[in-house]
Amino acid sequence: MITTVGSLKGGVGKSTATVNVAVELTRLGKRVIVVDADPIGTTANWISDREQHSSDLPKIIGIQKRGNLRATLQELDETYDVVLVDVGGYDSQEMRTAATTSDLLVVPMKPSPVDLDTLPKFVPLLEQFKDFNPDLAIAGIFTQAPTHSMSRKVDDAKEILTDYPEIPLFSTTLYQRAAYMDVMPLGRGVVEWSDSKAKAEVQVFVQELMNLA
Ligand SMILES: Nc1ncnc2c1ncn2[C@@H]1O[C@H](COP(=O)(O)OP(=O)(O)O)[C@@H](O)[C@H]1O
Ligand SMILES: [Mg+2]
Repeated sequence: MITTVGSLKGGVGKSTATVNVAVELTRLGKRVIVVDADPIGTTANWISDREQHSSDLPKIIGIQKRGNLRATLQELDETYDVVLVDVGGYDSQEMRTAATTSDLLVVPMKPSPVDLDTLPKFVPLLEQFKDFNPDLAIAGIFTQAPTHSMSRKVDDAKEILTDYPEIPLFSTTLYQRAAYMDVMPLGRGVVEWSDSKAKAEVQVFVQELMNLA
């Protein structure tokens, strides 16, 4: 299964989602490879941090690849159960070639109107992905959601998303939690950390993701 994590925005939690999904899938016994196709290299840095600081934990294989990803992803799909692709937060050859080769496109979004303003630009691109790859499943997930109980941000964002049937939502939301930041420089996922709420939401997210594939 090839899954791309992509959006037209940076800072929405694509790399954070990618590495956390990779760890949980590895914990579930899946053979996983992470393809970092963003020149910023967040995921690749996380892989080397894992080798350096968390070498007692299961190894996660990662590669960096730029340009047309299609042949590489198809090849990796033969060897691995899950190929996870992290792309930059803009329209790129990497995103286009990954999405048109993938089984699933995960779209992380912050539940804020300013962030969701990019969706009208994204929808035509998603339609193009589907033209080339009709079997592509697309699903959005809210990330960095406020944890305080009075916040209506996620409800309001879900309301906005009803105008975008092209991006059905995961029922899981990933909340704003220090754990997601704290584990990155250690090369860990939150399922390898002490925040049980972060761990639980990633596990439910991964279950949902596997059900979609
Ligand atoms: N659920 C979360 N809770 C707290 N901080 C988060 C969460 N997701 C991402 N972040 C932080 O937000 C910033 C951007 O995340 P990142 O995954 O690099 O986004 P992207 O890959 O979309 O550019 C990073 O500092 C990251 O640690
Ligand atoms: Mg990133």
